[in-house]
Amino acid sequence: MREELQAIEKEALEKIENADQFQQLQQVQVEYLGKKGSITKVLRGMGKLAPEERPVIGELANNVRKTIQAALKEKKEALEKAELEKKLAEETIDVTLPGRPVHFGGNHILTSIIEEIEDLFIGLGYEVREGPEVETDYYNFEALNLPKGHPAREMQDSFYITNEILLRTHTSPVQARTMEAYGGDKPVRMICPGKVYRRDTDDATHSHQFTQIEGLYVDKNVRMSDLKGTLKLFAEKLFGKDRDIRLRPSFFPFTEPSVEMDISCAVCGGDGCNVCKHTGWIEILGAGMVHPRVLEMAGYDPNVYSGFAFGMGPDRIAMLKYGIDDIRRFYTNDIRFLKQFHEA
Ligand code: DAH
Repeated sequence: MREELQAIEKEALEKIENADQFQQLQQVQVEYLGKKGSITKVLRGMGKLAPEERPVIGELANNVRKTIQAALKEKKEALEKAELEKKLAEETIDVTLPGRPVHFGGNHILTSIIEEIEDLFIGLGYEVREGPEVETDYYNFEALNLPKGHPAREMQDSFYITNEILLRTHTSPVQARTMEAYGGDKPVRMICPGKVYRRDTDDATHSHQFTQIEGLYVDKNVRMSDLKGTLKLFAEKLFGKDRDIRLRPSFFPFTEPSVEMDISCAVCGGDGCNVCKHTGWIEILGAGMVHPRVLEMAGYDPNVYSGFAFGMGPDRIAMLKYGIDDIRRFYTNDIRFLKQFHEA
């Protein structure tokens, strides 16, 4: 029996030694130490032994069991360690590899132009306001001295939702809305950037949706020279110090007198080229002294208050400033176009 136990120990230890999977260790456990395992079998035959031999063999059997158990434990730990090391090796990160590039977004070119203009006017004490894009006929036309049937409406006849509600055709309605909000007894200085909509056929210089910035200054003793000084400052800020401006007489129902402002062509410096159609000048915006009826309808007494207003198109300004040939580029979201204007 002694030999039998020694043989069991030798065989089991060899199997453990050679095992390279947990499952094999499990098998050894069952085969040698289990209820029906080899050691148990040997112990069952103990009855045949002489009584003085029994404790000796019993102790031997116990030792064999302990040795096998210890070997199993050791091997199990070794396998666990190897497995962990293998996993760590597989998951090693090479910190010297170049990273994946992160793509940064940036402002849309029109947003940048609008913010540049906002900065200038905020510096002059103006407030930036917003108005609804779905507007009433009253604010879009009537409050601007364009009563129903006025011929000047036709130029802007547009996207009507009902007879009385339409997509605003310009940002000018915000003039009346702001004056009303101010209550008729306080100076008003505001600009309003936003989207406007017209029934235009889209081409390189027309889009059914575009942007405008409205400006309004109402106070006591506001004069045409104030308008001219403000517009000159604006032109220099956006197009450079040596740009000249000129005001041409024009007509808008909500201003009297009305003007259109040109800047000297930045491409040819005023000598004449394709961009300025050989005139040396480029039209930039409409402006004028606020019509007394517009002041009156919005609650300002035209005998006490006067003001100027202007309206410009950031699309057009961006096109001139950056030599962009087609207004539709602003609205078709081609990332290759838009990215050119992102800061690095
Ligand atoms: N609302 C005019 C347009 O869309 C632009 C304009 C002209 C606005 C003269 C003004 C202004 O405030 O004084 O054509």
